[in-house]
Amino acid sequence: MNILILGSGGREHAFAWKLAQSNICDQLFVAPGNAGTAQVATNVPLNPEDFDQIKQFVLQNQIKLVLVGPEVPLVQGIKDYFREDEALQSVYLIGPDRRAAALEGSKDFAKYFMQKYQIPTATYRTFELHTLEEGLLYLTTLQPPFVLKADGLAAGKGVIIVENLHEAQQHLREMLQEQKFGAASTKVLIEEFLRGIEVSVFVLTDGHGYKILPEAKDYKRIGEGDTGPNTGGMGAVSPVPFADQEFMEKVKSRIIQPTMQGLQAEKMDYSGFIFFGLINVQGEPYVIEYNIRMGDPETQVVMPRLLSDFGEMLWATAQKRLAAFELLIKDQITATTVLVSGGYPGKYEKGKEISHLDILSEDVIPFHAGTIQKNNTILTDGGRVMSITAQGDTLEEVMQKCQKAANLIQFEGKYFRKDIGQDLLHQS
Ligand code: AMP
Ligand code: GLY
Repeated sequence: MNILILGSGGREHAFAWKLAQSNICDQLFVAPGNAGTAQVATNVPLNPEDFDQIKQFVLQNQIKLVLVGPEVPLVQGIKDYFREDEALQSVYLIGPDRRAAALEGSKDFAKYFMQKYQIPTATYRTFELHTLEEGLLYLTTLQPPFVLKADGLAAGKGVIIVENLHEAQQHLREMLQEQKFGAASTKVLIEEFLRGIEVSVFVLTDGHGYKILPEAKDYKRIGEGDTGPNTGGMGAVSPVPFADQEFMEKVKSRIIQPTMQGLQAEKMDYSGFIFFGLINVQGEPYVIEYNIRMGDPETQVVMPRLLSDFGEMLWATAQKRLAAFELLIKDQITATTVLVSGGYPGKYEKGKEISHLDILSEDVIPFHAGTIQKNNTILTDGGRVMSITAQGDTLEEVMQKCQKAANLIQFEGKYFRKDIGQDLLHQS
């Protein structure tokens, strides 16, 4: 069958890399893709948010399955568009509908859902401009650090954590009065701070059955030792030693199952990935956030750990027979290190030539993110440029492979964290 992936990051390259190996995939397209997806699929210059354009392409190319990478088209209702269009009835789109996508699109809704279905999460209150004074007062009743979150999508930047009460109050004013994050901060959540280690748990569901994919730890800060501003993600490791059987049983019974029951009780049309952003507080899992898609760079460690055919798994999802699908997972330790443009996550330049990709050893997978091919040259085209994945029997060995490759690849301004996985070394 012909498959179309929407998106252009490292996550989409990892999807494409895995789907290119699928027994059921004939032609594979990525829209718009990057220089890496072009090596395993055909890139098509479509905007994932232009649904009419995607429809035309899907019909002209007999696409049977559409896999949506990023959250924005889902929050904008691409699933509803496909469901309601008569010409698209035989095409299957992996992803939740707009109502379910609000689990990521609105943090206020996600919290309401978690409360309703008794899913453990930080206590919170939501404020709007007309309740600003109450919000300022509420902050005075809390202990630092203070956690403030814009309700809507803010490209990962909508969360502010500060120690100082006056600073927190100032942020609340700026978010509500000056719409610091645009419409995304029309509502602001103030949350209890949870202290613990984070882990990302992924589920693929067809609305009834589900499969738990390998979990991963993401490294969000730009600087080594988890310092400096937040980024989209600087690296990831899977498996995560503390996510042992006992912890995962708690995740399943207290978080995954009640979430699935909630989705069914709310009659949400959810087929696709659920990304549980969890925090382990002294052995007890809490939900920090839901995402309605796979993570980036987590996908770059999850896909290489799947032994099963990913195309068949998606097709089982489309046909609502996922519960009976046999998911096989490779035990090997897997890590990815992200190479970024100098200046990221602030201002950075694009168009720098990337060299030495041809001398990488066979035991690393260079997933592309912000790259573009011009003539015979691959150029940087984004903040996160590449994500180098390696596998092995020990974390030390895997970290070494990632770093060796990250050192070999050259482009002006290249930066990467050398400590991805370091904190887990003594836990495994
Ligand atoms: P979010 O976009 O909700 O995932 O928040 C971004 C990051 O802020 C998370 O990955 C956590 O590191 C941190 N964070 C968010 N909420 C909390 C909380 N209630 N307690 C502690 N840290 C938090
Ligand atoms: N790596 C975190 C995310 O994809 O949201």
